[in-house]
Amino acid sequence: MMSDQANKLRDLMLSKQKGGELKKNIKSEAPRVITISSGKSGVGKSNLAVNLAVQFAKLDMRCVLIDADFKTSKASALMGIEPKYSFLDVINGGKTITDILADGPAGIMFISGGAGFSELSVGTNRQNLHSVEDSNQISLLNEKIAPLDDISDIIIIDTGTGMSNMVVDFVSAGSENLMLITPEAASITDAYAVIKRAKEQNADLPVFGILVNRAESKSGGDEVFAKLERACNKFLGVELNNMGFLPHDANVLRAVKAKQPVSLLYPDSDLSKSIDQLIELLVSLDTKDTSFQVFLSNLIKKFNNN
Ligand SMILES: Nc1ncnc2c1ncn2[C@@H]1O[C@H](COP(=O)(O)OP(=O)(O)OP(=O)(O)O)[C@@H](O)[C@H]1O
Ligand SMILES: [Mg+2]
Repeated sequence: MMSDQANKLRDLMLSKQKGGELKKNIKSEAPRVITISSGKSGVGKSNLAVNLAVQFAKLDMRCVLIDADFKTSKASALMGIEPKYSFLDVINGGKTITDILADGPAGIMFISGGAGFSELSVGTNRQNLHSVEDSNQISLLNEKIAPLDDISDIIIIDTGTGMSNMVVDFVSAGSENLMLITPEAASITDAYAVIKRAKEQNADLPVFGILVNRAESKSGGDEVFAKLERACNKFLGVELNNMGFLPHDANVLRAVKAKQPVSLLYPDSDLSKSIDQLIELLVSLDTKDTSFQVFLSNLIKKFNNN
């Protein structure tokens, strides 16, 4: 018998075949905003962000990938593109969000965050936004970013790493959270530390979906997940969602070298298949739509409270 999840994905595929409009079970009005984060660096966030975006786009979802990691920004390199503009041109310059969209593989729309988010967080703009709450500044920014919600079904945000305030703010701003860990002990303790900080800042913390990268097997991934879950449950009173695992796949490195997403270069690879399973799971979850406008306004509030 087919699971509900499998049914939903099958419906999705069918409506894709029919060239149907974008599917009710993924999206009603506003797009789904999914933030990809981790405690430790180098655990595979950018790789996941790019390939998840590609797999969604292959299902005819209108998918926007935002690289919000200005320190180790790698998403564009993984796709072999060099965007001309960044989010900073929206914050500081005269560009609107649609002006800065770059074409990515499989029809993905790509936004390089550049120094835009950190400018909002610590730069001169923070002062401006802080001091004039009623301000034209915020409504102007809102006007400039509003079109993104109309042209997208899924927005995936690749964040920076770890203990910086910024990551804690990103995961607290009300998107769906996908946090990556690996079997390495440090990645689990660092993830715990981020969740702890986020919980301290927000009583109503959004639920975290945890994905184990480079797990040996499903049961191996479950064990790693259980370690983090036990600690979060016991000491923080936080429940986590097990979003499964991604295997170590040598094709990833080949794809990185070729500057192409592994899910395009090797669509039948273990990694591509695992990402499809992740999408099945995401589709099956009940979520509230966030919208980029709501997300960004939450984010700015978080920035200003620090
Ligand atoms: N499942 C996997 N199998 C094989 N290699 C992987 C896998 N996931 C990630 N990698 C490799 O691990 C390295 C780090 O991945 P990635 O850049 O996506 O991590 P990150 O979390 O975004 O890092 P940073 O914190 O620096 O932004 C890359 O070389 C990537 O190709
Ligand atoms: Mg990265």
